[in-house]
Amino acid sequence: MVQQSEIPYVIGNKSFTAVAINTAAKAGEWIKSKLGEFNSLNRKSSHRDLVTEIDKGAEAMIRNLLHTYFPEHSFLGEESVGQESESFEKAIRGAMEAEYMWIVDPIDGTTNFVHGFPFYSVSIALAHKGEVIVGVVYDPSRDEIFVAEKGKGAYVGGQKMRVSAESKLTESLIATGFPVSRQEAYDVNMKGIGALASRVRNIRTTGSAALHMAYVAAGRLSGFWEVGLNPWDLAAGVLLVTESGGRVTDMNGEPYSLKLRNVLASNGAIHDEFQRVLEDEGAVL
Ligand code: IPD
Ligand code: CA
Ligand code: CA
Repeated sequence: MVQQSEIPYVIGNKSFTAVAINTAAKAGEWIKSKLGEFNSLNRKSSHRDLVTEIDKGAEAMIRNLLHTYFPEHSFLGEESVGQESESFEKAIRGAMEAEYMWIVDPIDGTTNFVHGFPFYSVSIALAHKGEVIVGVVYDPSRDEIFVAEKGKGAYVGGQKMRVSAESKLTESLIATGFPVSRQEAYDVNMKGIGALASRVRNIRTTGSAALHMAYVAAGRLSGFWEVGLNPWDLAAGVLLVTESGGRVTDMNGEPYSLKLRNVLASNGAIHDEFQRVLEDEGAVL
């Protein structure tokens, strides 16, 4: 008979991953029913940084569902962290130190959601002492759920994911995003687009960092980079990419940690060339 202690990530017969999947699906379904329909639209750190009552409601729903199963776990959600840098630093320190910390972006792609552009996601990760052990990204528009567990691979629609095989930038489809809050980050990203545009097959910017990461994991994109992200944009996606055989570093090639805000993710094969081009053109932070 299998002992409970031999089954990783199981508490009271409810696995962390199963709870993350159910929670993301439930929140995503509700978000989708509200696409483009909301009552209050507010700006946070800049005119590009949007929040609606649906972002806040979805985060509350996710927090409640997670705490129903795991009341002792800590929670870091985008809409619960203050805008001031001290609140941000404190939240990251908490995430690095907590025994179990859920890291959640209730709607990654709020701008798309606001405009009724059906490309956004729910991102839920679980970190154990600062290491991400579960990552779930749900795309309600396509009803696609991307799931990874540390050491156990990553799946979409029941199929194991594998990153793409391109070995050169000239064969690569890559993605980036336009950071919402830091002008400095925006400028560096624009420089990166200038450096890469003529060297790659093409560039996509579809407005959800978590989905861009999921697409790298699924082999639909060869790589993704963006400057100025937050842990809730990345935590789940990083595990999807690494468990699918890809590589995630900062812009200087240093390994991922929850503190990382400037990301370079790829199928591994193009990583060094990708990083070198950005560095040579001064498009790194
Ligand atoms: C944003 C999206 C977007 C990226 C921005 C993020 P939000 O998240 O991931 O793709 O370019 O940098 O802030 O604000 O929609 O949760
Ligand atoms: Ca986000
Ligand atoms: Ca968000």
